[in-house]
Amino acid sequence: MKDIVRDMIIRYGIDIIQTDEFYSSFSQKHHIRTTVGEHTLGVAAEGVKFCLRHGIHDGKTLRNVVRSCLSHDLGILGRQDKFKNNYECLKKHPKHSSEKYRQLSGEDNDRVNDAILYHMFPLRLHAPKYKEGWILVLADKKASIKEHIGKTDVTQEDIKIFKELSGKEDQQ
Ligand SMILES: [Fe+2]
Ligand SMILES: [Fe+2]
Repeated sequence: MKDIVRDMIIRYGIDIIQTDEFYSSFSQKHHIRTTVGEHTLGVAAEGVKFCLRHGIHDGKTLRNVVRSCLSHDLGILGRQDKFKNNYECLKKHPKHSSEKYRQLSGEDNDRVNDAILYHMFPLRLHAPKYKEGWILVLADKKASIKEHIGKTDVTQEDIKIFKELSGKEDQQ
């Protein structure tokens, strides 16, 4: 991903990136060829790129978008122990992710919560209320498509940088 995109993700999401949960997301499989962590970074990159492309430069919105993207699938972590099957995971992970977001960030932002809770639209029928949520819906779909066709923005170098930021990489 481009430096400017990576820098924005770090600027607005560093406290989430530095948690144990975020670090462990790089070792949980997601879809066929990626991990939750790699997918998360791809979604955050799409979210930031959307904002920049559409002239959304205010720090508040950018921050909400980055934090929604970084947290939206963290509820999938540990799925084997939490969910009976894929359907239950699909249905329940947004709620688990929003709980993770509040727990990891220590904040309770209505716009971020709403974005995470309703990011499965239109698969789940409840639509997001704010623009941050719509940006997440788009970013999630776009990043997933890029993963499936093997054209993700997230390089091995990006993954290395984010893992190092967690401060845990040298202990592994
Ligand atoms: Fe999801
Ligand atoms: Fe996702």
